[in-house]
Amino acid sequence: MANKYEMFSVHVTEVEQATPLIKRFTLAREDGAPMPAFTGGSHVIVQMQGADGSQFSNAYSLMSDPRDTRSYQIGVRLEEQSKGGSAFMHQQVEVGTQLTISSPNNLFALDPSAGRHVLIAGGIGITPFLAQLHELEGGATDYELHYAFRAPEHGAFQAQLASGPHADNTHFYIDSLDRKLDLAALCASLADDAHLYVCGPKPLIDAVIATAAKAGIADQRVHWEQFAAAPVTGAAFTVVLAQSGIELQVEEGMTILQAIEKSKAAKVECLCREGVCGTCETAILEGEAEHFDQYLSDEEKASQQSMMLCVSRARSARLVLDL
Ligand code: FES
Repeated sequence: MANKYEMFSVHVTEVEQATPLIKRFTLAREDGAPMPAFTGGSHVIVQMQGADGSQFSNAYSLMSDPRDTRSYQIGVRLEEQSKGGSAFMHQQVEVGTQLTISSPNNLFALDPSAGRHVLIAGGIGITPFLAQLHELEGGATDYELHYAFRAPEHGAFQAQLASGPHADNTHFYIDSLDRKLDLAALCASLADDAHLYVCGPKPLIDAVIATAAKAGIADQRVHWEQFAAAPVTGAAFTVVLAQSGIELQVEEGMTILQAIEKSKAAKVECLCREGVCGTCETAILEGEAEHFDQYLSDEEKASQQSMMLCVSRARSARLVLDL
């Protein structure tokens, strides 16, 4: 598949420690030219290169005002399970550092058919909503933001939310103070034309999806986004690369992409390695995939026409790919 992202160079103009674990980075072009336009919910893929030649690539939501294209802002949480990218951003990126980023893409846009937007953020999952709040400001559609974090010091950007134009629409939930979000009550009280949006850790996303389903809320009214691919689980299986006839064993705990790269059996273009960008999309000729990406729609996943090699695995013992 053709890469629909354009990559370009930026430099870091500001770094702010927002919480003990979250930093906000401001990125701009060195020549001062405007950045590509984006809408709230968009992400960019940031490529990082260490002095020792190490390379990392992560997707981050844009959190700044979409109306201001002089710069972008991203929020980066230092992840304990970091593949290296978030640690690199925290430890090696400073004002003046050059990075390569992609043009923005939006897999988490506000649905214009919604009569009310109900936004649920967990921790660093607040970032796409900060951009969307700019779009909602003064608009005709009602909205409310529910923002949960584990302790007062971990609630990034809460001061700006508590005192700005969105204060009346924002509700805070703090685990350590036993102030918890009652998802069942929230879903039960949802109007028929309201849409739910959730971004944050996987347990929160799973809980929102399950609670909404239990409350009879249609799938099309529930939107979610999570970066950082889930850990690879599941039994080993065989992949056949149809163009060369090469057979590979994909071991437990390994992705198809890793198996292909290890064997050097084919070259696969891959930008994010998190199931977000779509560059590693590959046609399935035989067998069934177990999809873990966020790029394909539910219909596309069900059709079993293609899959993302960086995160998805096989449901069958054997997969034949058009590679
Ligand atoms: S590399 Fe981005 S979806 Fe696989």
